Amino acid sequence: MENAVAKRLEKIAFAGIRKVFEKANQLEAQGKKVIHFEIGRPDFDTPDHIKEAAKQALDKGFVHYAPNSGIPALREAIAGRLKADKNLTYNPNSEIIATAGGQEALYLSFLSILNEGDEVILPDPCFGPFSLAVSLAGGVPVKIGLQPKQNYSYDWEAVKQALSPRTKAIVVNSPHNPTGGVLSEDQLKAVAAFACEHKLWLICDDAYDHLVYEGCRLSPAALQGMRERTILCGSLSKTYAMTGWRIGYIAASELIIGAAVRLQQNIMLSLCTFAQHGAVAGLTGPQDCIHAMAGEFDRRRQLVVETIRQIPGLELEGEPKGAFYVFPRIILPGITSAQLADYLLDYAGVAVVDGSVFGESGNGHFRLSYAVSYEDCRDGLERIASAMKALVQKQ
Ligand SMILES: Cc1ncc(COP(=O)(O)O)c(C=O)c1O
Repeated sequence: MENAVAKRLEKIAFAGIRKVFEKANQLEAQGKKVIHFEIGRPDFDTPDHIKEAAKQALDKGFVHYAPNSGIPALREAIAGRLKADKNLTYNPNSEIIATAGGQEALYLSFLSILNEGDEVILPDPCFGPFSLAVSLAGGVPVKIGLQPKQNYSYDWEAVKQALSPRTKAIVVNSPHNPTGGVLSEDQLKAVAAFACEHKLWLICDDAYDHLVYEGCRLSPAALQGMRERTILCGSLSKTYAMTGWRIGYIAASELIIGAAVRLQQNIMLSLCTFAQHGAVAGLTGPQDCIHAMAGEFDRRRQLVVETIRQIPGLELEGEPKGAFYVFPRIILPGITSAQLADYLLDYAGVAVVDGSVFGESGNGHFRLSYAVSYEDCRDGLERIASAMKALVQKQ
């Protein structure tokens, strides 16, 4: 049947990460041990008190639709954490909406602000769904290369050149997927000043905001003049090891939240009710679980960074200071990052993601996620080291 599937689907490519994941699964089905450095989710279980609260909510009959913007207790808990952690004040009744993860928060944000042809400045490389979310909202993604040696911040000369009368927003994602970069206070101030000067929205993707091991934890929304301009897209997924619960949020001005709630009414209607009760327990309960997880990620990060710096054929140009990713560059001639990712999986049983999946600037890199056990990190790094030595010797 001709035109059976809408044209907009042409914008949606098969996710590059799934390709490597499926190939890794095939190898495992053949009995091979694979180290899963490709997966971008914490390997920890959700803390017990969060699961317990969701179970109790089920037992109490919280199985029906919830309010479109999320249960009041969840919005209050989000507002409470933003105050305690970032000294940001948001009205839980009018300035916060609960979303199905940070990903839906991003979609609702772009759908709320973009008219056809509006441009959004995005980091390159970046989390894949950014560009698609902008395009599906009628906007135009304008991808700007990052500077690895400057905490993977924007190349400002390129940003200034890309600025046009149609520029509507700029995205900040610190800590950054896929590089692990964390912007400094001065760098955040520079983005904020740029957004103010050119009257842009600042979309702040805070998916990894509790996974900062070195450097700045400041929210750009806390900077002068930025609260009304910033759309904070947060998530409980990585912070509380709750990726499958699908709980995130937007904190922004009443104008934006009003628009997002109207969309939510017609898209999701509401989030899973008992999952929201679990999320309340996460946000209002003891926070030592997140410090324990972050401490373990940091231990692995140190191992990964130190080891990769010694592996021949690889270079770590910047300092990964957050999230659970590193993004080494391949410094061997004649091999693409797609070929190297395939080689590491076939030869060494190590799954990593070809950097070009994250944008043009990711070409020649791969993303390694250290959200696997310390032992698997050590084993996987040893495998990469011997695979790279073999490759270097062949050259
Ligand atoms: C940068 C970034 N933003 C947002 C998300 C969305 O996460 P979730 O929808 O689980 O909150 C992810 C997930 O990997 C991410 O890496």
